[in-house]
Amino acid sequence: MSLLVKGARVISPGDNLDKEIDILIKKGVIEKIAKGIKAPKAKIINAKGKVAVPGLIDMHTHLREPGREDKESLYTGSLAAVAGGFTAVACMANTNPPLDSEQDMEYIYTEAKKIGLVDILPIAAVTKNMEQKELTEAAKLKKAGAVALSEDGHPILNSSFMRHALEYANMYGLIIICHCEDKALSAGGVMNEGYMSSLLGLKGIPAEAEAIIVSRDINLARRTSGRIHIAHVSCKESVALIRQAKKEGVKITAETCPHYFSLSDEELKEYDANFKVNPPLRAKEDIAAIKEALADNTIDIIVSDHAPHLESEKELEFDRAPFGMTGLETSLGVSYGLVEEKVLSLGELVNKMSVRPAGIFGLDKGSLKEGDAADITVIDLSTSWVVKKENFKSKGGNSAFIGKELKARATEVIFSGRLVMENGKVL
Ligand code: DOR
Ligand code: ZN
Repeated sequence: MSLLVKGARVISPGDNLDKEIDILIKKGVIEKIAKGIKAPKAKIINAKGKVAVPGLIDMHTHLREPGREDKESLYTGSLAAVAGGFTAVACMANTNPPLDSEQDMEYIYTEAKKIGLVDILPIAAVTKNMEQKELTEAAKLKKAGAVALSEDGHPILNSSFMRHALEYANMYGLIIICHCEDKALSAGGVMNEGYMSSLLGLKGIPAEAEAIIVSRDINLARRTSGRIHIAHVSCKESVALIRQAKKEGVKITAETCPHYFSLSDEELKEYDANFKVNPPLRAKEDIAAIKEALADNTIDIIVSDHAPHLESEKELEFDRAPFGMTGLETSLGVSYGLVEEKVLSLGELVNKMSVRPAGIFGLDKGSLKEGDAADITVIDLSTSWVVKKENFKSKGGNSAFIGKELKARATEVIFSGRLVMENGKVL
């Protein structure tokens, strides 16, 4: 069936497009973008007063399959992704067992296709079984569709090993997504080290635990000419290092997550483990630095780091609860706060949630022009909604935003030319 998105303000920064215009979709692709399209047989999506953007892309999610389907599965993760307005998500390799082989890549692609709600793009481990003893086979993984390599969840602490990984990944055009954490400095820590950790009597993780490894990875990327992408940037020290490295021409890009620019370590005063993430929520001045870095493109993209955990685990005492919060269903709403605060324009936000992720990782996505596969997100900017756990599609209820009022919400999602969400309901 063909679809006609009518009357939306279409914002596609990669195509220099920002105007009220119609989009006709036929057989999975954008057939026509023009004013006043008439297509009597098409299903009409009345998007007057809304915006339509290239399908949002989340390059950092934990979908937990295989191994922890009690926390999330490719299916429930796909539902959550659509509900959040995404048409593509990249899933991290720290599953059980880890995604480290061609068969694992095939498994993800096959299952995602069967589910048919979003593209799920596998990120492969850097090392076999994530044991950091032997490198995975980058050439084969790339061929099987790995979009990047990462040991996210764990840093690669052996610098020589990291150097070889970069050299090897670079030969096959793969980016390494770096989880930067000096484990000796972060050991035993459960929140940001600073005034709040002293006040609460919780062991802190200093910003330097992140920045020292960011600095090392920048040095190794410079040495090897390898491409690095810094995961979940949380502190001002990392921002300064990345900004400088970019000036020098190091092949580096970076991401942050909605919680790092909207929540500070002061949130931890209730000892609610839903605010426990790794890296930890930092101080107010870090939030300011992250926003500045988003505005000047030191930080290229926004990702959710969607990390579902069981309620029973998050209810453990703070020290013992696992790190991580869900994010697929709140990422857009929280990130829209940046537009309201005038940190980013709406077009810049679309850049960071669709255009740039596609560009950095070489995906044929993030644009809206005739002939493109039709991945489109329609967003209502005038709505406001309260985040409720019972409305989540994700199996994880461990969100720091429950009870918060957010603006902006995806109401329609078109994936590969099919309507997969309509009026805010996943079909
Ligand atoms: O908070 C986090 N949760 N940080 C990570 O690096 C890993 C993730 C997870 O897998 O739960
Ligand atoms: Zn992660």
